[in-house]
Amino acid sequence: MKNKIQATQIERVMRDNDFIVSKTDLKGQITYANKIFVEFSGFTQEELFKQQHNIIRHPDMPRAVFHLLWKNLQSGQEFNGYVKNMSKDGSFYWVFANVTPSYDNNKNIIGYYSVRRKPSQQALTIIGPIYKEMLAAEKTAGAKNAIEVSIGLISAKLEQQGVGYDQFALSI
Ligand SMILES: Cc1cc2nc3c(=O)[nH]c(=O)nc-3n(C[C@H](O)[C@H](O)[C@H](O)COP(=O)(O)O)c2cc1C
Repeated sequence: MKNKIQATQIERVMRDNDFIVSKTDLKGQITYANKIFVEFSGFTQEELFKQQHNIIRHPDMPRAVFHLLWKNLQSGQEFNGYVKNMSKDGSFYWVFANVTPSYDNNKNIIGYYSVRRKPSQQALTIIGPIYKEMLAAEKTAGAKNAIEVSIGLISAKLEQQGVGYDQFALSI
């Protein structure tokens, strides 16, 4: 189903008080989605349940961002960042996401949890062109080198400011 969706230029904009929430298992399969997630994604709870979270992945997103997300999560850290998502009808919506590991009583990671809110226009003005550059670099580099080249690109940008992606995302 996912690959048949054509991205459109129609934007859905989060409201100031919205929280889009989801939970996944260790493999990134959705185990919970709140009402606002259902509204923005355009999928029903039933359609979302047990699907990989990339069901709402937008083709404009650089792969390196998800690489950073999973790297953080698997090492027990949280991730903060901007994500452009795609709804079932091909429209898009930007979110500012906080993603965290969930632990059991023995400190084993048992799944992941994400809460997203409306990103500021200022942040999108900054992050939009950076993601475009990363995506272009990934396409030029080809699948094998995409992540390395793209991470190199954003690292070089952030090095000047002495911050990592997470800190940068929280600061803009
Ligand atoms: C809790 C959680 C929330 C996630 N939220 C999103 C999301 O909103 N949009 C998205 O494209 N990927 C999200 N991901 C990442 C996806 O699992 C996936 O890595 C990403 O869509 C890239 O897909 P791909 O690895 O098939 O290229 C999330 C992962 C986790 C664990």
